[in-house]
Amino acid sequence: MVLSIRHYVASDRDRMLAIFDANTPQFFAVNERADFVRYLDGNAGLYAVCEREGSIVAGFAVARGTAGRAHLNWILVDPVAQGGGIGNAMMEAARTRAADQGATMLDIAASQHSAPFFLRHGAHALGCLENGWGPGMHRIDMELPIGD
Ligand SMILES: CC(C)(COP(=O)(O)OP(=O)(O)OC[C@H]1O[C@@H](n2cnc3c(N)ncnc32)[C@H](O)[C@@H]1OP(=O)(O)O)[C@@H](O)C(=O)NCCC(=O)NCCS
Repeated sequence: MVLSIRHYVASDRDRMLAIFDANTPQFFAVNERADFVRYLDGNAGLYAVCEREGSIVAGFAVARGTAGRAHLNWILVDPVAQGGGIGNAMMEAARTRAADQGATMLDIAASQHSAPFFLRHGAHALGCLENGWGPGMHRIDMELPIGD
């Protein structure tokens, strides 16, 4: 599998929203769509997309946080491409980006569905807010130490 990661551009917007929609409501609450739209429109420079065989299959962002911290935002993979290692590749890229920003900790706001994936990558939960993302979608705040 050849996967390339590049900067998001405005013409990727519809494809990323289609990937979001395909993950809703299993992984995202319906009400989160407006937040994702706002994020893409307001933070285009931070967002990255992953392409496989010429098609966008996933995206994520790493934003600077407070001193020594960065934040992983809106990591999502097209359901038809999930389970093929793209998530792992993005986590590796996210660690590199966070380290390049001088961070030693990556904050992740997950759900009960994605938290087990981040646990596998060494993150641990800081707290859980029931229905924090919307009805039935709990917010689990996590942090992942990066570096060696
Ligand atoms: C969570 C997500 C990003 C993982 O991406 P992916 O491409 O499916 O992950 P990978 O194929 O790289 O999986 C790597 C490993 O993690 C496991 N894994 C993937 N998703 C998992 C999950 N939700 N829970 C537990 N394990 C998971 C895979 O089985 C795989 O295990 P293996 O190495 O033993 O084969 C992806 O499933 C996704 O987009 N989910 C929906 C959106 C979402 O919830 N995003 C997180 C918002 S905070």
